[in-house]
Amino acid sequence: MLARNTQTNEAGRSAVLLPLLAHIADSENTPLALIEVGASAGLCLYPDRYGYSYDDGPVLSASAVPDALVMECATTGNPPLPTSLPHISFRAGLDLNPLDVAKDDDVAWLEALIWPEHVQRRDRLRAAVEVARRDPPLLLSGDLVVNLESLVDSAPADSVVVVFHSAVLGYVDEPGREAFQDTMRRLTADRSRPVHWLSNEGYGVLPGVEGAMAKAEVEVVRLFVLAHNGSPAARTGGHGQTLDWLG
Ligand SMILES: C[S@@+](CC[C@H](N)C(=O)[O-])C[C@H]1O[C@@H](n2cnc3c(N)ncnc32)[C@H](O)[C@@H]1O
Repeated sequence: MLARNTQTNEAGRSAVLLPLLAHIADSENTPLALIEVGASAGLCLYPDRYGYSYDDGPVLSASAVPDALVMECATTGNPPLPTSLPHISFRAGLDLNPLDVAKDDDVAWLEALIWPEHVQRRDRLRAAVEVARRDPPLLLSGDLVVNLESLVDSAPADSVVVVFHSAVLGYVDEPGREAFQDTMRRLTADRSRPVHWLSNEGYGVLPGVEGAMAKAEVEVVRLFVLAHNGSPAARTGGHGQTLDWLG
């Protein structure tokens, strides 16, 4: 605990990112180049390799997946649920301290970060680690405020770039959050190449992105806000277990 930081990597968050990822892939009609800032071990970079069951419905997956890798997500507000998984041409992550799924010590730390009674999440982590071990992600060591743009430049030109992050900006100071937000506004406004920005962060963490929905205040503060290009799209459960679409 003295040597490490909180780097919980929750593959289940893919369930709340997937509807927007699929929507972007469909509307741009090109493969996705995924770039995750604050990627930890990169387990959220494989949304096309997991299975999904929304509201106990049928499992959507590209091929057979173990039960532990079926992300269950309860929704409200009629989100545009995907009917197929997006094609991903490139996956890369940036982190101050990337964790390596090939290192047992790093994986042991990820397991230690899961609350003891969350047996299902621990099974999911172990199964997601196996997915990443078969095809390790490109993970670069760097700061999201400083090193993002060169990574965006390295994405294949025939793909639409999606920069995303979840449970990250709470660890960044306010000037850093604002600088990152300015970078993302500039990148998404630049018409020379399409860039989308998905943020899934705690309520109030991203300046100006709050999300309107009548909920008891205590509930609101526990949920994350999922935003697309700076506009709130949904409230989400912190581990991807719920998706309250804002319409
Ligand atoms: C709680 S983890 C979330 C991991 C992953 N996004 C997920 O949802 O499973 C937060 C991660 O953000 C990283 N991080 C914090 N500040 C950062 C910064 N300024 N630049 C890059 N990564 C950062 C941490 O090292 C950690 O791995």
